[in-house]
Amino acid sequence: MMPSHRLAAAAILATASALTTTTPKQRLRSRLQPSKDELLCDPQSKEPLAVKAQYFNGVTKKTYQSPTATYGTRFGFVDLAEAKRPRTAREIADELREQIIGRTAAQRVQEDTFRNPFVSFLYERGWRDSFKRSGFPGADEEFAEVEELFGDALSGPGADVVLDMSCGTGLFTRRLAKAKHPDTRVIAADYSESMLVETKRRLDEADLSVELFRVDVAQLPFNTQSLSAVHAGAALHCWVQLEAGLEEIRRVLKPGAPFFATTFLVGAMGTDSLPKAVRDRGYRFFTVDELEKLFVEAGFVDVVVRKEAPACAVITCAAPSSAPSPRSVEEWRAACDEEVVSFYDFGVRM
Ligand SMILES: C[S@@+](CC[C@H](N)C(=O)[O-])C[C@H]1O[C@@H](n2cnc3c(N)ncnc32)[C@H](O)[C@@H]1O
Repeated sequence: MMPSHRLAAAAILATASALTTTTPKQRLRSRLQPSKDELLCDPQSKEPLAVKAQYFNGVTKKTYQSPTATYGTRFGFVDLAEAKRPRTAREIADELREQIIGRTAAQRVQEDTFRNPFVSFLYERGWRDSFKRSGFPGADEEFAEVEELFGDALSGPGADVVLDMSCGTGLFTRRLAKAKHPDTRVIAADYSESMLVETKRRLDEADLSVELFRVDVAQLPFNTQSLSAVHAGAALHCWVQLEAGLEEIRRVLKPGAPFFATTFLVGAMGTDSLPKAVRDRGYRFFTVDELEKLFVEAGFVDVVVRKEAPACAVITCAAPSSAPSPRSVEEWRAACDEEVVSFYDFGVRM
């Protein structure tokens, strides 16, 4: 066997010769070769996404392609909520009409409020702080709890990918990026384009680099069991398809991985004085029991919903661990009566 210092020298020589024997054009071509991102999938079909780089006038632009759709980048984020495709004038007019008169009351309040650049501008300039009146502890106190729950899933060597879901202006994204293990990939995702632009601006200001994705929580572009931890601050009441969103988060978390969320309870912002029919046309406000049921039904375990008076809920839970719970003797007896049970079921291997 070759000694290690010779191996290292051989590797350096090989790299040096590759650098000198390949032309800049060849190096650029190899950088533009399609690659696969093990984390990402098509949000709708869940097929793998190939990442393709294209070079225009000194700028490299990436596209993300599945067999059925192509997604692109804009304003510093990857848009995995809407596929890129050429549109006819008729389709553009239809889309415009849909945006102006076709949105439901829930979509207007829960989604469109935050797609307004003025709201994104105001969000960390007083809007988020006003949540304290409903019992929200405040970003620093909330993040201390997030760090405690995530532990090694954020700062340990095994922490692969941590997601700040519905990141808003990135107030938790920045904290996650500072607290993470050096090898951990922090991802910030939101449906609002203007929130993502504000997140990017604030990350750049803080000299932090985080990947930004536009996504709909009800159709996540991440592979099953690929994330080490998920945070969703003050967001559940904004998700139009809340049940689908919770199921998606459970799907993408690794077995046993933690999920931390905060949201508003009934009574926040004086809403208990409104008739339910009116309340239901805006944000969704919950009772503690309702939240527990939603999380359990989405498949989470260790669900704890804590009320912070007067109307904030702090939720901690985890994705179920993959190991099936061992059957008790009684369960085995019942199984032997009801189904075909083989030696294999008892772990016997020939
Ligand atoms: C009140 S802000 C929360 C921001 C931040 N996480 C925090 O703790 O303050 C709620 C965010 O949810 C986002 N949102 C609403 N609907 C969404 C959806 N379907 N998918 C992803 N994000 C969504 C909004 O764009 C908004 O940025």
